Amino acid sequence: MNLTDLFNVCQTRLEKIFNQYLNEPRTDARLLQDAMSYAVLNGGKRVRPAFVYAAHPLFDAPLENCDAPAAAIEFIHSYSLIHDDLPAMDNADLRRGQPSCHKKFGEALAILAGDTLQPLAFEIITSHPAPLSTAQRLSMIQILARASGYHGMAAGQVLDILGKMTKDSLTQMYQLKTGALLSASLQLGAVSGNITDPTILQSLDKFTHCIGLAFQIQDDLLDFENESITGKTKGLDASLNKMTYPVLFGVEESKKTVNTLFEEAHASIEFLGKKGHILKELADYILKRKN
Ligand code: IPE
Ligand code: IPE
Ligand code: MG
Ligand code: MG
Ligand code: MG
Repeated sequence: MNLTDLFNVCQTRLEKIFNQYLNEPRTDARLLQDAMSYAVLNGGKRVRPAFVYAAHPLFDAPLENCDAPAAAIEFIHSYSLIHDDLPAMDNADLRRGQPSCHKKFGEALAILAGDTLQPLAFEIITSHPAPLSTAQRLSMIQILARASGYHGMAAGQVLDILGKMTKDSLTQMYQLKTGALLSASLQLGAVSGNITDPTILQSLDKFTHCIGLAFQIQDDLLDFENESITGKTKGLDASLNKMTYPVLFGVEESKKTVNTLFEEAHASIEFLGKKGHILKELADYILKRKN
């Protein structure tokens, strides 16, 4: 399986699940569904689900067992973006080339769409018909809860808002707001594949630790530079006086750090041998992306 196959699997399977879970008839709250669907279905890259489905070629995890965690992590990610764009946070008008959720539906619905996507992520893990054991489902819930909340994304967003960064605190903020969900994606895949060997899990964590940090630095560089086609307002970080990697260290140093992190990431999965190529391809895709 190469990267194109992986993204195809991801898109096809997610589309099916999203249609199923986002189209449940709830006519009394139709607008809520519209806002949730708008945020989830408007063309994200699906990087986090791709890390979950990578467990299929890597560890022979059945695709069916990857469906619920892949959808769940994308629900959490989508909720995090809706809230990230709100006036109280980044006040971003554009997301994926279209009006951000609150611009389209208003703030109250955008907040509630995020609030609804979050528990839906946990609901899908508990209720999806795949042959996942109770222990697997529990472990997925733990991973997801930890990575989204107090020990992960939400805490990172708070540090982002507080600003005032040193190199160490900036790195910590990136690990929390972005790295935690990326690491969770591969951990969820490992659970789908019943991988319990602590040495393997630690190496995978080292890999996603580097990739998560590089992912956010790359995101900041894309915001900073002109040739990007992010579908987001360019230069927003600067206009918000955000302390980012390029601001603190300059563009060249940031690019160097991204490359070093990718080398470290590659090195940490050498033990996977040929099978590891799918993770390296995913990492390269993140490194070279323009959006
Ligand atoms: C954007 O994530 C937010 C960050 C953590 C940098 P993505 O770049 O994965 O966003 P989409 O889902 O593809 O739009
Ligand atoms: C990542 O940071 C945000 C989340 C954790 C949701 P950014 O604020 O830089 O993400 P973008 O650039 O708006 O996608
Ligand atoms: Mg932000
Ligand atoms: Mg933002
Ligand atoms: Mg950004």
